[in-house]
This record gives sequence, structure tokens and C-alpha cells, in this order.
Amino acid sequence: MNRRNIVLVGFMGTGKTTVGQLLSKQTGMPLVDMDSMIEERAGKAISKIFAEDGETHFRSLERAIVRDLSTRSGQIVSTGGGIVLDPDNIPDYEKGGLVVCLLASAETILERVRHDDTRPLLAGDKQEKILQILKTRRPLYEAIAHKIDTDGLNPEAIAAQIAALYETNLEIGT
Ligand code: S3P
Repeated sequence: MNRRNIVLVGFMGTGKTTVGQLLSKQTGMPLVDMDSMIEERAGKAISKIFAEDGETHFRSLERAIVRDLSTRSGQIVSTGGGIVLDPDNIPDYEKGGLVVCLLASAETILERVRHDDTRPLLAGDKQEKILQILKTRRPLYEAIAHKIDTDGLNPEAIAAQIAALYETNLEIGT
């Protein structure tokens, strides 16, 4: 039987990759990291793609990967924080899996990305960038049916909530 995917969505620094690794261990399903796939296909780091080819090109690479991954099954997908920007991405993933959005406050996000310089969209004043991007994206994250407020939760607790949700949402598209 094909197992449904678990797709983790959320702003940068909400813990998608860490939680994905835990879920992968628990379920035995492989973890697929969209950012790593993009870097592999492009043959360069995300910061270089943004700098040399621009964000629009990055989004088209991202879109191609969503189209590809959403037709597969039995995987945990850690998405890039910007996949909510293309209105087709979440519906595509929902066709074959449980999509869960991880939410966090701006303070928590800042704390988690404070020492990270790999994310081109947060270059410069991180706090200002986070607040600015969150302003436009929050409604897009909030529109996702399954959400977990991760503030104050450790990755194990978040993974446990998602595992429980996965067990109780057996139909594709729920
Ligand atoms: C982005 C998030 C990043 C990466 C790129 C753009 C975004 O992924 O895809 O830097 O637009 O939010 P993470 O959410 O894994 O940091």
C-alpha cells in the first residue's frame, strides 16, 4: 500500500528539518529536503542561486520540485519557507499527503536563525526582515488546514503531534 506523504511547511527557522528527521526515524519514511534538492539540481548553494539567477528563478526551481514530489508517496518532505507564495504548491501537496504548517512567533524565529547566514532573504537586519516577510506570509501559513504552534515545544513534542495527526487522517487530502 502506498503511504501518504507528510509535508512540513512553515517560515524559516520553524524546525521543519529537525522535526522531519525525527519523523523519518519514527516512521521509516525517507526525509526529502527541498532546499537540498534545489541545490543538487542547480549545482550551487541557494545563496548563489538568489545572487546569480534571482528569486524568480529560484521559485521556478522550487515549483518544479513540488510538481515532482507531490506525485510520489511514502516520504517526509521538508519544504522551503517560501512555497506558500505559489498558490498551486499547497493544493498539489495536499493531493497526496498530510500538509502540516509549523508556526512560531517572530521572537522564536529570530532566536533560531540568529547565527545563521545561509538564508539570503534574511541578510542584513534579521529582525526587520523576519517581521517584514512574516507580515505578507502569515495569512498564507494560517490558511493551511493543519497547523502547530511550536513556541515552547521541543522537536520531539512537535513530531509526536504530527505522528498522531497522521494516524487519524487516513484519507488523502485531509
Ligand atoms: C526561503 C526559505 C529557505 C530557502 C530559501 C527561501 C523562504 O528555506 O528555501 O532561502 O522564502 O522562506 P528554509 O525555510 O528551509 O529556511
